[in-house]
Amino acid sequence: MSGLLQGKSALVTGGGSGIGRATCLAMAGEGARVTVADLPGAGAAQTVALIQAAGGQAQAVDCDVTRPDQVQAMVAAVLSAYGRLDCAYNNAGIAAMHVGAGGQRIGDISQEAWSRMLEVNLTGVWLCMKHEIAAMEPLGGGSIVNTSSIAGLVGLPGSNAYVVAKHGVIGLTRAAAIDHADRHIRVNAVCPGYVDTPMITEAMARRGDSILSTVPMRRLGLADEIAQAVVFLCSDRSVFMTGAAMPVDGGYTTV
Ligand SMILES: NC(=O)c1ccc[n+]([C@@H]2O[C@H](COP(=O)([O-])OP(=O)(O)OC[C@H]3O[C@@H](n4cnc5c(N)ncnc54)[C@H](O)[C@@H]3O)[C@@H](O)[C@H]2O)c1
Repeated sequence: MSGLLQGKSALVTGGGSGIGRATCLAMAGEGARVTVADLPGAGAAQTVALIQAAGGQAQAVDCDVTRPDQVQAMVAAVLSAYGRLDCAYNNAGIAAMHVGAGGQRIGDISQEAWSRMLEVNLTGVWLCMKHEIAAMEPLGGGSIVNTSSIAGLVGLPGSNAYVVAKHGVIGLTRAAAIDHADRHIRVNAVCPGYVDTPMITEAMARRGDSILSTVPMRRLGLADEIAQAVVFLCSDRSVFMTGAAMPVDGGYTTV
């Protein structure tokens, strides 16, 4: 049986947890050979084990997306193992609480927290794209998907640097889509709503009811529901799509 990504080589950052792990599994299930990248010890090897147990092909690579040398080595590891890079999902990210800025307003956030948020959630995406594009161009093209968020489309309370970074990811996606369309590289963004992953466990425990009251479907998304959208954007089913910011949010941004 041939899958939507049969024979393709795919790279996922933040592949050791949550949405990234679900996407690695979905891509492998569609026939891709997957490079699972994450911070050391963050679960990439476990994702690879799950893929292999299901009969798929994958390798784990340690990579901090804010480190130029590590990002370059990550893409080199893809080419060395699988000879090409067809699909890249730039998904690694952190929440406001990870920089000690959860619930803070513009006037309260420290410059250090602001800079770190932009470094991981925006500059990290740019850095990955820079090396992925360099790998894809000589091979005739590819498909890149970036994880933005509902916070890339509208504002969210108490998450200002996160909101700015995720809006930036959409700007970066659109700019890159225009610049690389003539080289057959498509670049799209997926904008998840609230999804049941470790990233939002703490927020759900604190104010789950109030979060769900803002979602027309009145439930959290599942990581695999985002993964299916990413697979579609990576696959030839979406060949005329580039520069799009696709909400997968249970209706959150329609309200
Ligand atoms: N869960 C949600 O509700 C939600 C909603 C919208 C967008 N998102 C976005 O989806 C993406 C995935 O988040 P998730 O919910 O799966 O969270 P998660 O915490 O389960 O996974 C995030 C992964 O990114 C990795 N990561 C963090 N910093 C990194 C770095 N510097 N280099 C490499 N890897 C790094 C972590 O180790 C982790 O494996 C993030 O970009 C997040 O902002 C999540």
